[in-house]
Amino acid sequence: MVYYGAIIVNFLSKDKSMIVLGIESSCDETAAAIVNDNKEILSNIVLSQDEHKIYGGVVPEIAARSHLDHIDDIISQAFQRARIKPQQIDAIAAASGPGLIGGVVVGVMAAKALALALNKPFIAVNHLEGHALVSRLTDDVEYPYLLLLVSGGHCQILIVKSAGDYERLGTTIDDAAGEAFDKVAKMLKLGYPGGPMIEKMAAIGDENRFSLPHPLRGSGDLNLSFSGLKTAVRKIIESYGNADIEETILPRKDIADICACFQKTACECLFDKLLKATDVFKQKYPQGKHVVVAGGVAANMYLRGRLEELAKNKGLIFAAPPIKFCTDNGVMIAWAGLERFKRGYTDELDFKPRPRWPLDSNAPKAAGAGGVKA
Ligand code: KG4
Ligand code: ZN
Repeated sequence: MVYYGAIIVNFLSKDKSMIVLGIESSCDETAAAIVNDNKEILSNIVLSQDEHKIYGGVVPEIAARSHLDHIDDIISQAFQRARIKPQQIDAIAAASGPGLIGGVVVGVMAAKALALALNKPFIAVNHLEGHALVSRLTDDVEYPYLLLLVSGGHCQILIVKSAGDYERLGTTIDDAAGEAFDKVAKMLKLGYPGGPMIEKMAAIGDENRFSLPHPLRGSGDLNLSFSGLKTAVRKIIESYGNADIEETILPRKDIADICACFQKTACECLFDKLLKATDVFKQKYPQGKHVVVAGGVAANMYLRGRLEELAKNKGLIFAAPPIKFCTDNGVMIAWAGLERFKRGYTDELDFKPRPRWPLDSNAPKAAGAGGVKA
């Protein structure tokens, strides 16, 4: 965590900065953070709910109750760590969708209540925009850039032209990349979330032992699919002879080999389509310099390595946020809020949280016009 450095930086520069509080509660992290327009992270508080582990996935009702129990304390901690008073912030941003609506409502209501009490603007941030823009804070990425957004709920290739201006080049037609990691981990009884465990096991496995399919390879478009890959893993587990894979406990070496093969193939699927997308990007935006990966799956070091190589071969600069800003956090919401605020985009207090909210429908209205409406 960056608290102490941030406090000193804040002390030196707080007079001239625009400061935004960001709140995140769309899945299983309750988070709040404060950032300024000097790209300084003044505080970053993240509470990862571990109540879901025994269920092998996030239980929406439990998540919403847990957000409600902790949100006030997390926001207070964000102010304390930043050593600033609520009145010193310029705006309050909250992830207002897409996500589990019970949790989203908790964060949005907290943000609106603060905005009302402090008489400060409220900014409804698309959670995906948080992932999409955070590397501008951490790695000075410049618009326009090519983005692979890979999280537990989404898998898209986009051109990011500016805050609120996205062109989607491709998307998954079934599972998200993180969802595929989680489902394969569940089949192998590796626990939730599955991505980090698959990566750990893959590191000791043989990635050439099993041949797995690359769905939609050569489809001619930039869409992705992971369902067939997941089914192929299921078939390998079934081949061990048990009618019910719930009862199948594989030897550790076999689990490691399956993880390595799955990770390699899933990353190749992403690599193939992103490679094609770089040509589209370079043709449309010859001035574009960066290719970025973001979202929880961007924490995967194997994927980052492959994509770094891809960018280098295409003459582009590769950027990925630090691991702690790949998975859900308040910093990305505060930063996206700040970028929107600087462009004059704010939202009314009657903004309705959106369980579904495609990023490429995110164009904001002018300042004072109420921003994006549900
Ligand atoms: O962005 P995120 O925190 O939440 C959503 O917005 O969905 O992403 C969570 C997803 C989970 O599916 C998790 O398994 C995956 O990111 N993930 C990883 C890794 N760390 C997290 N996937 C692969 N490798 C990792 N190291
Ligand atoms: Zn996320």
